[in-house]
Amino acid sequence: MQTVSVELADRTYPIYIGSNIFPTAGELCENHSTPKRLAVVADHKVARLYFSQLNDTLRDHGFETDLIVISRGERQKSLTRAKAIYELLLKREFNRSSGIIALGGGVVGDLAGYVAATFRRGIPYVQIPTTLLGQIESAIGGKVGVNHGSKKNAVGAFYQPTFVCSDVNLLLTLPSREIICGLGELLKYAYLDETLFSLISEHLDRLMNKDLDVLQEIIPACNRVKARMISEDERESIPAGGRMVLNLGHTIGQALEVLSNYKLRHGEAVLVGL
Ligand code: GLY
Repeated sequence: MQTVSVELADRTYPIYIGSNIFPTAGELCENHSTPKRLAVVADHKVARLYFSQLNDTLRDHGFETDLIVISRGERQKSLTRAKAIYELLLKREFNRSSGIIALGGGVVGDLAGYVAATFRRGIPYVQIPTTLLGQIESAIGGKVGVNHGSKKNAVGAFYQPTFVCSDVNLLLTLPSREIICGLGELLKYAYLDETLFSLISEHLDRLMNKDLDVLQEIIPACNRVKARMISEDERESIPAGGRMVLNLGHTIGQALEVLSNYKLRHGEAVLVGL
């Protein structure tokens, strides 16, 4: 297992990257003193594939879990869905001593992270990204939020997770369209970093084939670049520099996403934007 640290003084947190580390999620939560009561937010496909395994490891380490299942797709990143989750959490008597696990791709990570940032003025959360885009980009850096009207990420916060657990084996069940979405953000990193450009160009075919060795080389390399930028400019406040460069390709990309009525996925739209 490799670790990349996002250095943010007393909010510093690790990104764990490796093959088959998902079954140790319970141990990682225990090591990080994650709250003992945890709501796991996942879409129905990811829940069917991975919730039982996550539940086993969490229960083995003394955690109590509740599963909250949402539908798939960008439309779920809404205040309506956030409100439905608040209502479930209140009904199930979650409180300030509870936590959230975001198990899924960018939509689940952004939505569950936003709920964590706002429920009872903020409770801890853990990111377990299950997509390539999640592992290289959206689960890192604490940008959480929902869309509103025609505006992407109109409502949100900077709210960092307790840790990120990126198991490359979880990517093996992804359809190739999802890998292409990840390539959108990967290409951005290739533009930003010469070493990554060479690495990604050299291994493109193996990436498309979800080669675990290549994924374990490229994901932490992207994470190191992003972690450095987040440490320098967590809240994107440096004008024309800092974290803002991570929005490369996103101005046109996000407009296309909205105009396509989200038929174009985020990573695909970023590819076009780039
Ligand atoms: N996705 C851009 C950022 O995290 O800053």
